[in-house]
Order: sequence, then structure tokens, then C-alpha cells
Amino acid sequence: MITPVILSGGSGTRLWPLSRTQKPKQFLSLTGDETMLQQTLRRAIGGQSFADPIIVASAAHADEIEAQLAAIGVSGARLVLEPAARNTAAAIALAALAAPADSLLLVMPSDHVITDVPAFHRAVAAAVPFCLDGWLTTFGIAPDGPETGYGYIKRGVEIGLGVQRVDRFVEKPDQQTAAAYLADGGYSWNGGIFLFTSAAFLAALEAHAPAILAAAKASIEQGRQEGGRLYPSRDAFAAAPSEPVDTAVMEKADRIAVVPVDMGWSDVGSWDALHAIAPQDSAGNAHHGEVVAIDTTGCLIRTDGPLVAAVGIKDLIVVATDDAVLILPRGSSQDVKRAIEALKRGG
Ligand code: GDD
Ligand code: MG
Repeated sequence: MITPVILSGGSGTRLWPLSRTQKPKQFLSLTGDETMLQQTLRRAIGGQSFADPIIVASAAHADEIEAQLAAIGVSGARLVLEPAARNTAAAIALAALAAPADSLLLVMPSDHVITDVPAFHRAVAAAVPFCLDGWLTTFGIAPDGPETGYGYIKRGVEIGLGVQRVDRFVEKPDQQTAAAYLADGGYSWNGGIFLFTSAAFLAALEAHAPAILAAAKASIEQGRQEGGRLYPSRDAFAAAPSEPVDTAVMEKADRIAVVPVDMGWSDVGSWDALHAIAPQDSAGNAHHGEVVAIDTTGCLIRTDGPLVAAVGIKDLIVVATDDAVLILPRGSSQDVKRAIEALKRGG
């Protein structure tokens, strides 16, 4: 059995104004009726293969998560509720310590799209024997541009059918380096999904990030359990260095494997990314909510609030909520952060 571990700690400011601190991306319905969290759970529940999931999240989101689980009939999940965000190495450490000894953990971000779930399951199945033998496994996505927001994996020799040793793992290289990796052809993007036994992961943490392991251990020992909720102790967890698992463990450990997989993966990291994967009409528009569009082409128009009428516009992103409207040219949706910075400064 595989224990799904779902990481739900991101703040997702790149999808402002829809995503907010209280309602980050994983709790939103972006590609269909269900939220990203619910879609993630659907990929790894039930059947012979999956045990009850563990969800690692901010304590502030516990009620929201339980409501979303109940809405799709998932019971038996365990919530590990962080008193503060200390990034993914510490979050996964909590899950590995809270899981039954020697569980096989499938770590999944709560905010990604995978359209070909059978391909995902086949990739996981290919990795299982290696993980049982102590390998830490990642899933590799074919890169389609020199993105600087991803980890890059240099694929090495084949160690099994569809499974390769990782020669090098480089988290978020600069643009020039990313372009060189792309030209090389031997690199995959890290999909941010991992499979390993809890024992192998904890051993790697002990070797490469012992302070994170020690803080996670102490916070669970001093924490409390309330029904399906585990609350690690605030003071002990605060001592954990805040570091992503990618640099704390994956860049440093031996015996890292990658399973390259084509599964319609997207991390939906921006409004442009959402436009690219959303169903479009014949004029290249993707709409959501009450939208009237006339002579409009290549636009993403989404409203979760007022009616939006667009006439004669081209290649724009328009996102309306009850209290804010964002408008920017398609292709520049990373600039959302400039709006957020300006708002923080007070206009
Ligand atoms: N519980 C918890 N606590 N979850 C967290 C925390 C935390 O402190 N920080 C981040 N997460 C969750 C996020 O919600 C997301 O689902 C996942 O962990 C990954 O964190 P991101 O912050 O989104 O990482 P990233 O996108 O910058 O980079 C990672 O993902 C890329 C693919 O999307 C890395 O693994 C890259 O190597 C990878 O390419
Ligand atoms: Mg991400």
C-alpha cells in the first residue's frame, strides 16, 4: 500500500486576485468543478493501492480541508497541522514521522494538474520496486522552455524499465543555465512529486539536514493528537530550518531515481498557464463564470463575482472577484506580483 502525502502549504499569490492568503490555489476550482486539492486526492484514493492520505497543511486551513474532503466523501485522512510554514523538507519530515513505520510515501503537491492519471499511476508503479530498495524517486517532466521556477534533473543510466538514475538535481537554475540544460536534451523538470519509504527519506534527512529532522521529531513528541488532527508543538517546530526538500535532500542524496512521464502535468503557476490548459472556444478564449464576449480573441476571462462584458479585446487576461479586478496582457501574467507589491506598499 502507498500512503499519499499531500502538501498544502503554498500561498499561490501568482493567481491573485482569486487566490488569497485565506484561500490559496489548492482550495480553488480552476479546471473543473472540484478544487485542486480534491482533484489531487482523487488521483490517490481507494482501490488496493492506496492507504488513507496524510495532508500536511497550515493549522489555519484545517476546517477548509475537512470540508473539502467531506464534500467528495473522503474519510480517514490524517491532517498534520503546521503551527507555522517551514517549507517542504520539514513538512515531509512531519508526514514521514507521523506515518506508520516504513510506509511507502507518495508526496504530491496539492495544486497541480495531471490530465492522464493512468500514466501517472504507471509511472508510480515503475518506481515502487526501487523505492522498496531505498531509492528516493522523482517524476520527470519533458521541459518545454527554459523555465526558472522548476528543479532540473540530469538523467543518467537506466536502472530499470522506465527508471533512470539521477546524475544531478539542480533546483531553480538561472535562465542561462536553464537554457543550456534545454539545449543539452538530457534534462527533465522535477514535477515536485516524490515516492520513497519513510525510512529512506528520514535517513537522507538525518545525513543531509539533521536540524530539520530533530525539530520535526521534537515537535511531534511534544505535540498533541485530536481525532484525525495532529498538532506538532509550535516551539519545537519553529526551530526547523526553512528549506525546500529539493535543496535540503534531493540535490545532496545518493540513489535518487527519476521516472520520466508524459501525463499532462501542469503546476498552473500563472494565469497564462491556466489559459494554456483550459478548454478554449474557436477564437482561443477561455471563459469562466458570467461572461459576455464579442469580437474577442485569445483572452482568459474569469469572473467569480460580477458579470463581465468584453467587446473587441485581444490577448488579455481579465480576472474579476467580488472585490478586485485584474487586467493584463497575455504573456505577462508573472507581473501579477508587481500589482501585489504595489498594493502592499499602499497603492
Ligand atoms: N505543508 C506545507 N508546508 N506545504 C508546503 C510548504 C510548507 O511549508 N511550502 C510549500 N508547500 C507545498 C505547496 O503548497 C506546493 O503544493 C508544494 O509544497 C511545492 O511547493 P512550492 O512552493 O509550490 O514549490 P515550487 O513550485 O517553488 O517548486 C517545487 O515544485 C516544482 C514543480 O512545480 C520544486 O519541487 C521544484 O523542483 C519543482 O520543479
Ligand atoms: Mg509550485
